[in-house]
Amino acid sequence: MPATGQRVVVSEFAESPGEAIDSVVSLEPMVSPESRELAANEVLVKVVCAAVGWVDLLMMSGQYQHMAKPPYTPGLEGAGVVIAVGAEVKRVAVGERVLTDGFVAGPRSLGAYQSQGTFASWVVMPEEALHAIPSKLSFAQAAGLLSSYETAYHCLLTRGRLKAGETVLIHGASGSTGLAAVQVAKLSGAKVIATGRSSAKLEAVRASGADHVLVLDAANSEGEVQFKDQVKALCGGAGVDVVYDPVGGPISKESLRAMRFAGRFLVVGWAATPAVAKGRGGRGAPNANQLPTNLIMMKSIDVLGCPTVISTVMDPSSRPPRLEAVLRWAEQGAISPHVSHRFEFSEVRAALRAKWKGEVIGAAVLSVDATT
Ligand SMILES: NC(=O)c1ccc[n+]([C@@H]2O[C@H](COP(=O)([O-])OP(=O)(O)OC[C@H]3O[C@@H](n4cnc5c(N)ncnc54)[C@H](OP(=O)(O)O)[C@@H]3O)[C@@H](O)[C@H]2O)c1
Repeated sequence: MPATGQRVVVSEFAESPGEAIDSVVSLEPMVSPESRELAANEVLVKVVCAAVGWVDLLMMSGQYQHMAKPPYTPGLEGAGVVIAVGAEVKRVAVGERVLTDGFVAGPRSLGAYQSQGTFASWVVMPEEALHAIPSKLSFAQAAGLLSSYETAYHCLLTRGRLKAGETVLIHGASGSTGLAAVQVAKLSGAKVIATGRSSAKLEAVRASGADHVLVLDAANSEGEVQFKDQVKALCGGAGVDVVYDPVGGPISKESLRAMRFAGRFLVVGWAATPAVAKGRGGRGAPNANQLPTNLIMMKSIDVLGCPTVISTVMDPSSRPPRLEAVLRWAEQGAISPHVSHRFEFSEVRAALRAKWKGEVIGAAVLSVDATT
């Protein structure tokens, strides 16, 4: 008799991520795929932990560059144990701890495995979608390793050309990409000024290596947040060399003011304006695009778009060195993912809500198999 488990199903796209959590997400019974049905290159993985991603939330509201068609199982990435392998599999062996690669399989991939995310007791993936978990990482730490740290690598190093001795201002530093960026920037020998709205969360960011943390005030009557003077005071008055911005909206303009002449501004994401894609940026929607061209022009600033997935699709050769570096750093203990929240599988809605409300520091994971 095949074993039974559970999987999350997104039945249709909701109007917003917040609505999706309560209206289109359900936990349904699942039967273990049969090992004898695996294709020669496929692997059956028992999922132990699944990362709860911001992009999972965006997709549930139909807002991402590409998405699985509902009904689908969310979960861009996860970690687990190999249960069975197809006849020609060589990369992984039964019993091995593996993490899944969201570029190759799952909702953010482009091929045949798109509808099968990691919010499930088991996943079947082609062998190239699996990597051995670096020995220093727990299943929970490994579950979201690649998207966070590959984003930080792509934005800071490939696009931002961050060098030792430079100063980088990292916004949203308590978030998944932000906290990874703090660690990657420190590893590169840069000085880090990290920002966020919560002093409690920023203490964890400081513990991850940030040289300075700045709690940002609420937006003023013009809709702007002010921090230029504090940032400049922390870097000798000149301004920062690089801005890493996964937040956008009300902090964009002030970030340009806090930069030195000819600095690099990295457009990483829009955590502050999450409901503007796919035609939702109409009247009344928050403005995600607030970079003033006068400051860009007069300060000779390089504004660099940093879409990790799209850039990798356009230039697949960019990925192997990045992937190799992230896995090696994790093996060496040079980077260490911070997981602030763990949820039982039955608490999937609470997990998504915690991510949506910004309660998470670094990563939140679902303990899909709480016994491992
Ligand atoms: N470029 C890429 O390839 C790439 C890859 C992955 C993700 N992203 C994008 O990067 C952004 C962040 O992703 P993430 O996974 O790091 O998200 P996350 O874990 O939720 O972190 C976002 C952080 O932004 C801060 N923040 C500041 N103002 C905010 C606001 N008004 N609303 C919500 N958060 C606010 C929050 O910290 P405080 O509460 O401390 O302020 C939060 O920790 C998203 O837009 C995502 O789509 C881009």
